[in-house]
Amino acid sequence: MRTNTDFLWGGAISAAQTEGNFLAGGRLPANFDYLPMNDSRLKPIDEPTFAALLENQVDYFPSRQGIDFYHSFKEDIALLSELGLNSFRFSISWSRLFPTGEEEKANPEGLAFYEAVIGELEKYHIEPIVTISHFEIPVALVKKYNGWESRKVMECYVHYAKTVMEHFSQKVKYWIPFNEMNMVLHIPFIGGGIVFNEEVNPLQVQYQAGHHQLVANAKTIEIGKKINPDFQFGAMLAAGKTYAYTCDPQDVFAAWQHDRDNLFFSDVQVFGQYPRHTKAFFQEQGIKLATCPEDFTLLKNNTVDFVSFSYYSSACTAKNPDNLDKVATNGFTTVRNPYLPKSNSVWQNDPLGLRITLNQLADRYHKPLFIVENGLGTQDELVEGKVNDEYRISYLQGHLQNMLAAMKEDGVELIGYLMWGIIDLVSVSEGRISKRYGVIYVDQDDQGQGSGQRVKKASFDWYRQVIATNGKYALEK
Ligand code: BG6
Repeated sequence: MRTNTDFLWGGAISAAQTEGNFLAGGRLPANFDYLPMNDSRLKPIDEPTFAALLENQVDYFPSRQGIDFYHSFKEDIALLSELGLNSFRFSISWSRLFPTGEEEKANPEGLAFYEAVIGELEKYHIEPIVTISHFEIPVALVKKYNGWESRKVMECYVHYAKTVMEHFSQKVKYWIPFNEMNMVLHIPFIGGGIVFNEEVNPLQVQYQAGHHQLVANAKTIEIGKKINPDFQFGAMLAAGKTYAYTCDPQDVFAAWQHDRDNLFFSDVQVFGQYPRHTKAFFQEQGIKLATCPEDFTLLKNNTVDFVSFSYYSSACTAKNPDNLDKVATNGFTTVRNPYLPKSNSVWQNDPLGLRITLNQLADRYHKPLFIVENGLGTQDELVEGKVNDEYRISYLQGHLQNMLAAMKEDGVELIGYLMWGIIDLVSVSEGRISKRYGVIYVDQDDQGQGSGQRVKKASFDWYRQVIATNGKYALEK
């Protein structure tokens, strides 16, 4: 375990997007393994659709293959070490440890895999940053309990989290109990293993699931701090400041409301209580949460140590957004910001938005921040064994310059910067590997064909120099 307080320069991936081998070593499928590679991936799923997904023998399910990190982790981590990074965020697959989610004891083969991964990181002095749940839940828990809608799943998760924290108590310091908790409101099957039936109010189910995740997060912190008081726990949100389309106060208020809703989960994780506006909102939406009095004591007494977040783009909204041009962003659709230049990615690029977002979160939370995802997902071309991804360098440079300015000029306290998808992986929104993020290219196409060979892109050497100079290189070139 690292003991110094150096800035963490690193990369990030998740199990469901990289490991593949979805039935190896006693693992059973998770929600993510049933997502085919088509546009329905992000849509809410109802019971007939879920039944069809379970039966589907036709489509290609990209996460079942991933990038074979299950077998290539040694080679991949050696490359990360060559890159010079000092930290690496990955997630543990719940289904690899508890294949149905309800076993008493963890699957020894699953534990052995993560021991090997962490052992390899240790060998190269790379700090592990562990996400306990990254968009993944054993599908058995979806079928039996409708995922996080059920309190029972909260108990299963806490048992899983406790097992992991006990097992790696001397090896891991930074824990992220949930990836982007706010995504349960946007992509409920991925974020919460939720399947809707016709009669229910979707928001009721989503906030109920969210409540269970928040309480599970607090319980994990309570247990974790007893296991090792040095553990550091982070909230993790899909961030990105929402801009008002115009300075019309109506638009400004709409943007402010959008941000307030987006920050709901991290507010609870940092402040230890539901925000004051929730009561009115729940009433208006007909939401009645099933809770226990001890839930609120847990939330109050077990807040997070840091706030981690992903940043890909800012958002934009107006009082009447219906007639305005729209664009996709991380997990939802937003109003197209006419001030942001055209780029080669689907999501709009806004490097200054990162500085604005860092300041927004720093002002609100007064906690150390941690950028645990940022990067450019776009198509790359392998030509004569080389990938010249100048556009990725330019994206990263713009974002890093703003990050460094936020630290130096605005006094933002930041633990580190982890580039997302440091190795090409299966995209969540598209299910395609051709939406590539990495500085390491994986020779594999969208149907899983290819040698799987790893190739260093031009951005590899650029990021290596950024890390070696503690960021200075990003200010120069
Ligand atoms: C974040 C997720 O929302 O965005 C990652 O935590 C995801 O898992 C990343 O990969 C980028 O999104 P996408 O849809 O391009 O994979």
